[in-house]
Amino acid sequence: MIEKIHKLIEEAEAFSTQSLEELEVFRIKFLGKKGLLNDLFASFKEVPNEQKKDFGQAINKLKSAAQEKVNSLKASLENTTSDASLFGDLSRPGEPFNIGARHPISLVKNQIIDIFSRVGFNVSEGPEVEDDWHNFTALNLPEHHPARDMQDTFFIQTDPDVLLRTHTSSVQVRYMENNQPPIRTISPGRVYRNEAISGRSHCFFHQVEGLYIDKNVSFADLKQTLQYFTTELFGKSKIRLRPSYFPFTEPSAEVDVYWGLETETDYKMTKGTGWLEIMGCGMVDPNVLENCGIDSKEYSGFAFGMGIDRIALLLHQISDIRLLSENNMRFLEQFKSAL
Ligand code: PHE
Repeated sequence: MIEKIHKLIEEAEAFSTQSLEELEVFRIKFLGKKGLLNDLFASFKEVPNEQKKDFGQAINKLKSAAQEKVNSLKASLENTTSDASLFGDLSRPGEPFNIGARHPISLVKNQIIDIFSRVGFNVSEGPEVEDDWHNFTALNLPEHHPARDMQDTFFIQTDPDVLLRTHTSSVQVRYMENNQPPIRTISPGRVYRNEAISGRSHCFFHQVEGLYIDKNVSFADLKQTLQYFTTELFGKSKIRLRPSYFPFTEPSAEVDVYWGLETETDYKMTKGTGWLEIMGCGMVDPNVLENCGIDSKEYSGFAFGMGIDRIALLLHQISDIRLLSENNMRFLEQFKSAL
C-alpha cells in the first residue's frame, strides 16, 4: 500500500502539461472529490495501527506534491495564455493613452517667458512668504506710507511683519541685492491680495514682473520693449500709456492694449471699452536702486509688472477667473491641444 503511494508521488512530481484541460484532469484524478487522495484518506481507518504513522505521512506528502504541481502549472499556463491573447490579435485597437494638459496659466506664463528670453531676459524666482523689507520698504514704501493700502495684504505675522507677497517686485529686490547691472530679468510667480473674489478678480493670482537696469536706460527703451511684447503676445500693436503712480517707479504708467470687442468675454474683460489694462510700469525710482545696493548715479532702469490671469482669460476666451483655480477636469482637459 505505502509503495503504491510512493509511486503516485513520483507520478505527481513528474507530471507536466501544456494545456489547462489536461491539468484539470490531473487535478480531478488526485485532488477531486472522488479522487485518489480522498480514497486513500478513506482507507486510512483500515490500515493496521503500527503502519498508520508512515501511511499518514505518505498521503500528506502526496497531497502537497499534487497541490503544488497544480498551483505551479496553473500559474505558468495562465501567464502564457494571457500573453498569447494580448499579442495574438494584432488588429486590436491600442490602449488609450491619456495625455495631460498644461494649465492655461502655465501656457501664458511660458509664452511670456519665451518672448522676453528672446531679447535677453532671464527668469528669477523668490519666496511667496515675504518680509516687510522685500515686499514694501525696499520698494520705497516705508512704514505708514499710504500707498501700502493699494495692495491689501495678507499678514501671517506682525512685528516683525511676515506676509504673503502682494507682487513679485519682491523678487526683483532680491535679484538687485545679489546682482550688479546690467540686469535683465523677469519674475513670474503667484501673488496674494485680500480682495473680494468675483468673476474678474481673485485673492491670489499670477504675475510676471520685469526689470531692466543698465547705463543710460530711458523711457523710450521701456516703450519699445512693451511694444515688442504686446505685438508678440497678442498679435496687436495698438497700445496706450496712461500716467499713473507707483511708489517704486518715477515716472509711472499704466499700459493698455487695444483688444477689440468681438465676443462676450471681450466685453466682460475690457468692461465694454475694448481696451485691456495689462500692466503697470515705469522708470525705477533711484531710491529703490540705492536701497538694493546699486549706484543710481551710474545706472537707471525700467520695471513693469503684469497679471497673467486676465491675459489668459482673454487669450483663451475663459469667462470667469475662478475657473482657473477650481481644478475641474472638464475645464482643464480643454487645453490639451494648446501646448
Ligand atoms: N508691482 C506692481 C503691482 O503689482 C506692478 C508694477 C511693477 C508697476 C513694476 C510698476 C513697475 O501692481
